[in-house]
Amino acid sequence: MTKQNRVSGSIGIFDSGLGGLSVWREIARQLPGENTLYVADQAHVPYGSRSMDEIRSFCEAIAVFLLEQGAKIVVIACNAASAAALHYLRKLYPDVAFVGMEPAVKPAVKNTRTGVVGVLATQTTFQGKLFESLIAAYGNHARVVTCVGHGLVENVESGAVDTLETEKLLKECMDPLLSMGADQLVLGCTHYQFLMPLIRKLAGSAVSIIDPAPAVALQTARVMKQRQLINTNQGKGRHVFLTTGKPETFKSNLERLITPFTDKWETGGVNWQSGCLVHV
Ligand code: DGL
Repeated sequence: MTKQNRVSGSIGIFDSGLGGLSVWREIARQLPGENTLYVADQAHVPYGSRSMDEIRSFCEAIAVFLLEQGAKIVVIACNAASAAALHYLRKLYPDVAFVGMEPAVKPAVKNTRTGVVGVLATQTTFQGKLFESLIAAYGNHARVVTCVGHGLVENVESGAVDTLETEKLLKECMDPLLSMGADQLVLGCTHYQFLMPLIRKLAGSAVSIIDPAPAVALQTARVMKQRQLINTNQGKGRHVFLTTGKPETFKSNLERLITPFTDKWETGGVNWQSGCLVHV
């Protein structure tokens, strides 16, 4: 990568679907001069119930695609994908900067007054080594209780963010954590950020909800500064969003979720072909 490409390239971001847009939003807010390229692998959403091997192979192909399109850093805006592929990708491409995510157990353990921290995430995230190491590091300082959010990712994808059915699904997974005394609720799946109004309503005002997106954006900025990847030349960044799913549906979701944050965006489709991503 030349010095010029390093600076003018985009921040590559991916998730299984819309969830990573909660991370994109923070990146666009904290790094307004940067271009971004976002891939939503909606052909395969949800990732959370798939095997680690399968998710890893999707992630590798998406990372390769993003790098081919000129990404100067790759942000895995998905806890399940990070659990399956972050270490693997770093090993495979040691020269590439990867930023991943994990449930924000550390600040929750620091802030809890009841000594109980609740984590909501998908099954894959709880099975990964990243979560195992979080428990090893912080599990002695607080009781960390977990719950798999069945059906929530699907409901965010379909736009059902404030329905009675979603409220019922959320209540089923939050109630056990709350009745065990959790006063910190960690959102361990980027999709759940879009359920914040319902989560706040069910949790009540005494419970803190921890969304890791601002910290992930901060870490992205930190890594870019360290590697001299910050684009200091331009005004506002341009944003491209691609889906492996249905471009029309994706576009209407983006109009709802992205328009308040930027007017410089475009969208399109990308297809899976023999395990690789190619432009439509
Ligand atoms: N948004 C992803 C995460 O943060 C998971 C969504 C999925 O299961 O596809 O874990």
